[in-house]
Amino acid sequence: MEHTTDREFWDARYSEHERVWSGEPNAVLVEEAAGLEPGTALDLGCGEGADAVWLARRGWRVTAVDVSGVALERAARHAEAAGVGDRIDWQRRDLGTSFPEGTYDLVSAAFLHSPGEGLPRERILRDAAAAVAPGGVLLVIGHAGPPPWDPDAHPDAHLPTAEEVLKSLELPEGEWDVLRMGEHERVQTAPDGRVMTRTDNALKLRRRPS
Ligand SMILES: C[S@@+](CC[C@H](N)C(=O)[O-])C[C@H]1O[C@@H](n2cnc3c(N)ncnc32)[C@H](O)[C@@H]1O
Repeated sequence: MEHTTDREFWDARYSEHERVWSGEPNAVLVEEAAGLEPGTALDLGCGEGADAVWLARRGWRVTAVDVSGVALERAARHAEAAGVGDRIDWQRRDLGTSFPEGTYDLVSAAFLHSPGEGLPRERILRDAAAAVAPGGVLLVIGHAGPPPWDPDAHPDAHLPTAEEVLKSLELPEGEWDVLRMGEHERVQTAPDGRVMTRTDNALKLRRRPS
């Protein structure tokens, strides 16, 4: 692939279609956040904003970050239409070089993947863990492999297991509890319309209250 920055790649990707993702929140976020007391949330790589909007509708105040201005404009329109525009702070950042300040009750990174090896995902996820307030939750959802309709997609991207993500976070002993770690399947529609099963993984951790 020709070398482009994450911003160029994702702006181009989002500009190709009126909508890239389903508009629905990620099922694992819904499962894992539904029982949490709403507070402040940070959504890393928020894309078109479905997770951020879902959280805001449930009473969270959300900071939602993405490298793509195209995605963020779309996400902000979605939030306005849902009546929660004032509950979400949309921030365009390259998380490889800049990370939002502060701590949050929930930090979520759902499919924070980018083609190639340019995205320093491990470091971003360590920053994500550092941004979790005492008693708060870190949720990392990722793909376990390439899409079943294109097994050769992005051969240079390493997709870690949930166990590898946990290890790479280098968390101090005794300060975190693992609430969920492992693979799950979900049904996805391929670009040609075929309905296929895809394997993803999820890691949910709680920082112990201080
Ligand atoms: C696979 S999409 C997932 C979008 C959304 N979280 C979801 O689950 O639908 C990955 C997102 O990460 C964003 N992204 C990729 N590299 C990034 C970077 N360096 N900094 C911030 N966002 C980035 C992309 O723009 C894209 O919206």
